[in-house]
Amino acid sequence: MKSLMSTKPLESVETPLLALIVAQGSTTAIDPGVERAVAAGDYKGKKDETLLVYGSGKAQRILLVGIGKTNEITRSSIRRAAAIAARRARGLGTKTFSLAVTKEARGSLGAAELAQVLIEGAAQGGWQFTELKKQPEDPKPDIESVELVIEAADKEQAARGRRIGDAIAAGYLFTRNLQMLPGNVCTPSYLAEQAQKLAAAHGFKATVLDKAQIKKEGMGALLAVAQGSAEEPRFIVLEYQGGGTGAPIALIGKGVTFDSGGISIKPAANMEDMKFDKSGATAVLGAFEVLGRLKPKINVVGLIPATENLPSGTAMKPGDVVKSHLGKTIEIINTDAEGRLILCDALSYARRFKPVAAIDAATLTGAVVIALGHHAIGMLGNDEPLLAEVRDAGERAGERCWPLPLWDDYRELLKSDVADVKNSGGRAAGTIAGAWFLREFVDGFPWVHLDIAGTAYLEGEGPSHAKGPTAIGVRLFTEFLLKRAGA
Ligand code: BES
Ligand code: MN
Ligand code: ZN
Repeated sequence: MKSLMSTKPLESVETPLLALIVAQGSTTAIDPGVERAVAAGDYKGKKDETLLVYGSGKAQRILLVGIGKTNEITRSSIRRAAAIAARRARGLGTKTFSLAVTKEARGSLGAAELAQVLIEGAAQGGWQFTELKKQPEDPKPDIESVELVIEAADKEQAARGRRIGDAIAAGYLFTRNLQMLPGNVCTPSYLAEQAQKLAAAHGFKATVLDKAQIKKEGMGALLAVAQGSAEEPRFIVLEYQGGGTGAPIALIGKGVTFDSGGISIKPAANMEDMKFDKSGATAVLGAFEVLGRLKPKINVVGLIPATENLPSGTAMKPGDVVKSHLGKTIEIINTDAEGRLILCDALSYARRFKPVAAIDAATLTGAVVIALGHHAIGMLGNDEPLLAEVRDAGERAGERCWPLPLWDDYRELLKSDVADVKNSGGRAAGTIAGAWFLREFVDGFPWVHLDIAGTAYLEGEGPSHAKGPTAIGVRLFTEFLLKRAGA
């Protein structure tokens, strides 16, 4: 999807669809048809409320999208309204649409962030995955472009926001499509190829370790997860150098391309959703797509351990003890707690970059869905300032994080009779236990863990969102990195 910008007055915009975001109680006099609907009390501009009018002006259709009360307008509500507009445009099959926001509906947003979040929303709402359908029922074209209709005075600022919005949209769509690919297509080696392609396209460095190299590196925990699979694991390292010789930020993503649970096998119901268990990895790749486009002055390293988790005659078993990259031994209690096993080796590998900060994103625990549902990322870490910084980035991104405690008391959950640590502490405090396990392997840098199991994909659709993957993390990572880069 590409974006365009126009400073024409709304009445003279020629378009198959003019979507106008309006606030409650102050809808606009853009067309007699709209005015009649408002006068009749049929349209009020409430949150998510839409009105489609075949008006008499230059725009073939007008869509009003309500954003709710003027004092409740945020970046997120504007993003959401833009997504609703794009989703309707897609449903109408218009390929392109124009998008504007009334003065009252813009809240206190500056022109740059307004343009950015409008494009982000349009990318979100316009998305649909059709790649693998040979015979789509009711085929609708992709949204090719969105035209932002803005005020002339906002032009320069809006152009700045548009550049960021375009880059985020590209990263976001890249991630979402990759998330959607099934396990038989998106294997660990496929993920690695995607990383290499990204690196080649944008001119950064990619290193991919194959199974033999992973073994040589001593990543015994990652290997243990991979040993039940015919598909070989990969360890992917991306290095973006945008800021001289300074120490990098490390982004680490869980890349389980399919999680059956292994010998501790999962129930069959919804197991197909475990193709989304690579969502941390795809978020990191999406963030690198954004980096490649925006080229901020910062250094970033991306680390992705990629593997399947399957049961077989060669699979790891409960009770097995394996040696991690850091040297600590791990007793496998539950082979379904595989994410922490592959991430612990990545966290240990990260030491060589001496990162100034590390953030991992992982669909790590079902428990985070119980705790926070689908509206917040579970956030834990070892450094309060970094936690606050990540949380702020999440607020700006509309990818909210909520903290859980990592008190010492919880460490006991992971005491093993035979090894340094065990990989599961049972049902109590599942998300915290997962994070505590990771913490055992964080040596010498500030670190934040994001448990995205509840937010990486949605089981149903909404007015602003299709069913399925959300690309969670791409916007958060971008906001975090841009702020760090001083952009
Ligand atoms: N990939 C799952 C977590 C998950 C659950 C992601 C639901 C998305 C939706 C993870 O590998 C897992 O199986 N975790 C176990 C850990 C337990 C065995 C300690 C869980 O949450 O049950
Ligand atoms: Mn699992
Ligand atoms: Zn998993």
